[in-house]
Parts: sequence; structure tokens; C-alpha cells
Amino acid sequence: MQMPVYHIPALLEECMEGLDIKPDGVYVDVTFGGGGHSREILNRIGSKGHLYSFDQDEDAQSNAINDERFTFVYSNFRYLKNFMLYHQVEAVDGVLADLGVSFHHFDDSQRGFSFRFDAPLDMRMNKRSSMTAADVLAVYSEEQLSQIFYLYGELRNARRIASAIVAKRSVAPIMTTGNLLEIVTPFINRKQEKKELAQLFQALRIEVNHEMDSLKTMLKQAVELLKPGGRLVVITYHSLEDRIVKNFIKTGNVEGNVEKDFFGRVETPLRLVNNKVIVPSDEEIMRNPRSRSAKLRIAEKGGE
Ligand SMILES: C[S@@+](CC[C@H](N)C(=O)[O-])C[C@H]1O[C@@H](n2cnc3c(N)ncnc32)[C@H](O)[C@@H]1O
Repeated sequence: MQMPVYHIPALLEECMEGLDIKPDGVYVDVTFGGGGHSREILNRIGSKGHLYSFDQDEDAQSNAINDERFTFVYSNFRYLKNFMLYHQVEAVDGVLADLGVSFHHFDDSQRGFSFRFDAPLDMRMNKRSSMTAADVLAVYSEEQLSQIFYLYGELRNARRIASAIVAKRSVAPIMTTGNLLEIVTPFINRKQEKKELAQLFQALRIEVNHEMDSLKTMLKQAVELLKPGGRLVVITYHSLEDRIVKNFIKTGNVEGNVEKDFFGRVETPLRLVNNKVIVPSDEEIMRNPRSRSAKLRIAEKGGE
């Protein structure tokens, strides 16, 4: 039997151009996954360059690259700065983030990321963390669930779905993807069933893994870590994530507050490199349909 691919990297060439790789540079890939982007960075740096790659999923560790210019960091990227200091690195030339989950997560029938398989409602990228999707469904209030489905899943039916979950969980705990599907299917638009279920599962996954918080924390630290002229390259896969990155690049803070100097000029540590967001070509989408929603933003740290 053929092993499923761990992941196919999105916008590979565009990311490399965005990083503007220097042979002696020090780079960080904060989302290692199958290592597609990391391998390409290693192909482009020389013997004095170095790459540190983070992943919080222990499965990704099995893809670690045997190369003396490579260091795998098994951690959430919210601890980016601490781990770099631990490795005695105070400044880097580029940080790459390819957010979200890998194909491996969706294709693993046991981890609950996909509605294609009946599995325990887990959805933790980091198997050491305590809260699973089943826990979220068991303890969050109706209002909290509704907010998650609306904000992270953009589901118009968020309130009705949350209300059905709260009604049913008092009868029996919601432990599996099958239990959840049974409850929510009546509220899903048949004509776009797959899309809406994917949005619902995405919303839960984002909450379970505190993805928005980690992203904001990482962005702040990435800017502090970048050398003047260093590059921040980020691929997002849904609108809320993209908005956070876009505002951060524009204003230099995750709140999106525009700060101006005495002359009314916007003060921000970053300069946008691509004015227009970069998306996969039709050819890439044909080859790799899961890259469809990828959006790439590139910024450069000022002061050089
Ligand atoms: C879209 S995949 C990256 C794929 C990778 N670029 C490649 O070419 O194979 C995202 C990866 O980042 C990891 N990840 C997501 N959020 C993370 C976080 N906060 N800290 C560390 N790793 C994270 C996931 O476990 C997953 O392996």
C-alpha cells in the first residue's frame, strides 16, 4: 500500500523569493510539517547558513532533516524567541510561517480533524496539551460555541448549531466526529454540505489549538527577532488569520492600531514587500487543490 504524502508545500517558489535567501543567513520555519519549505531553504543556504524549524506536533518530528545546518524544535511557535535564545541566536534573516494544519492531520483517521472519518473528537496538534474538541463541546457555553462557529468558521447558522449542541450534550456526551455530525447535519445547507462541515471543523480546531493567540504572540516575537532588512513570510488559509497578518504588517501591532510620528507618517517596523496578496496559480491549484485558499504576505523589517 502506498503511504499518503505528509504534505505538499503551497506557494513554494513564491515563499523562497519572499525570504530573499542569503547563503550565510539564519532562517526560521515556524511550521515544519512535512518539511517541504524547510528542505527548499536548506537547498538555498550555504554551509555557513542555518535553519531552525518548529513544529508542535510530534508526528512532524519524524520528517526532521539530517543535516548539520538544520535544527528541529519540537515546540509551539509561541515560544519562538525563548527557543532561539536557548540556541544562542539573537537575530535572524527570515521567518516563514505556513499556518494551520498539514494534509497529515486531515488524512489521519484517528485524530478527529476531518469529518470524513468517524474518530474521537480530539483535534489537538500538540498531543501533550490538555483540551480536546470533545472538551470544548462539553464545557463551553452556548454563547461561546456560537462565537467560535461564527468567528472562526464564518457559519451563518452558528447560533442554531450551538443551541443544538448544548441541548444534545445534556442527553449524552459528544465524543466522536460521528456524534457531532448527527447533531449538526440538520442545520447544514445540503447544497454546500462539505464546505460548511469543513468550516465547522476548522472553527473547532482553531479553538482547540488556540491558533489566533499563538499567531499573534509569534508575530510580535518574529519582528523582534528579525535583523534590519530581514523578511517575514506568512501563508494564511482563512480570512481572520489573514486579517491579523495584514494588520500586523501594516501597523506593527496585533491590535491594528496605527501609530503616527510628529509628521503624521505611520510608524511601523515592517514594510510590505508585496502590495497585492499572492495566491496560488491555476496550475498550482490543479496540481495541489488543497492550496486553493492559501494567501501569502511578505514584509521586510525596516532600519537597514
Ligand atoms: C500547513 S502545515 C506546514 C507544512 C510545511 N510548510 C510543509 O512544507 O510541509 C502546518 C504545520 O505547522 C504546525 N503548527 C501549526 N501551528 C503551530 C504552532 N502554533 N506551533 C508549532 N507548530 C505549529 C502543524 O503541526 C503543521 O505540521
